[in-house]
Amino acid sequence: MQELIITRPDDWHIHLRDNDALETTVLDVSRQFGRAIIMPNLSPPIVNANQAMSYRERILAALPEANDFTPLMTIYLTDTTTAEDIKEAAEHPHIYAAKLYPAGATTNSDNGVTSLDKIQSTLDAMETYGLPLLVHGEVTDSDIDIFDREAIFIERSLAPLVSRHPKLKVVLEHITTAQAVEFVECSGPLIAATITAHHLLYNRNHMLAGGIRPHYYCLPILKRDIHQQALLKAATSGNPKFFLGTDSAPHTTDKKEAACGCAGCYTARYAMEYYAEAFAGEGALDKLEDFASHFGPNFYGLDRNTTRMRLHKTDQTIPQQLPLGSTHLTPLGAGETLAWTAELLHD
Ligand code: NCD
Ligand code: ZN
Repeated sequence: MQELIITRPDDWHIHLRDNDALETTVLDVSRQFGRAIIMPNLSPPIVNANQAMSYRERILAALPEANDFTPLMTIYLTDTTTAEDIKEAAEHPHIYAAKLYPAGATTNSDNGVTSLDKIQSTLDAMETYGLPLLVHGEVTDSDIDIFDREAIFIERSLAPLVSRHPKLKVVLEHITTAQAVEFVECSGPLIAATITAHHLLYNRNHMLAGGIRPHYYCLPILKRDIHQQALLKAATSGNPKFFLGTDSAPHTTDKKEAACGCAGCYTARYAMEYYAEAFAGEGALDKLEDFASHFGPNFYGLDRNTTRMRLHKTDQTIPQQLPLGSTHLTPLGAGETLAWTAELLHD
């Protein structure tokens, strides 16, 4: 296949950051995606509807004119999020979900939830008012091996949470394991998952064999090949519970190439090119549109985008660096050649 025309896709999980970073991140996401679920893990985090609305204004102010990208805002759950915060967010027309970061699990999660017991009434309110829960699914116990943290979270925390809240819509974010695929497949229709391009394209050997490559380091961390294969199978299966979420997460180059480097891969600039590569590798390009453009809006109860994107087999080289505010970042796969090029069709 040399060319593919699909409905304009959406990104159901992205980090845009704030202030001057928005110049790059908002431009990049809006070049490809019609809408995106915006992660609230700023420092300090976005914890209520008011803060989400000011953040939304800053994102829109960074949007190039005549671009019809829509940011879908979220709030960050803490131990002290109230039922009133949830009601206000659920009733707000621009807020689509609340995000659960176990405290200490990832970048800017220090204010996250320290124990699920502390947010039972918050989760009850989310169930009552119909606000979906987005989950960073990893335990944080220091004695648990980093490669096991997702599978153990599912068993110890997520399975009980889902059975206690049968009416709650839950997205297990950026899944990385065969156990997560199985959990989502075996759960009811309210439980779904996003999958990143980098977890489809890579496994831990790409990050660690022959030298340590910090730009492949993200959380949840890349796993073994068998898990990558399970994710590829899920993403290309046509099962509507699995849809696109890039988890594009910018960090400056110096913060990644460091003795203690930050977690996060920047994929927003070439997101659909990476996904096309992964799906083409499986001989499943015909499944890309459902995954990227249909299953997400179906889950959230939204209309599909009406404009289209063309993907064509034309090489492009990923630049070594992109600007990020007054400094720069290194995009995933910097210096490598992509087989695909994505462009929006203006009809
Ligand atoms: C994300 C970030 O940098 O904000 N990092 C990452 O490795 N994915 C946070 C997250 O989604 O875990
Ligand atoms: Zn993320």
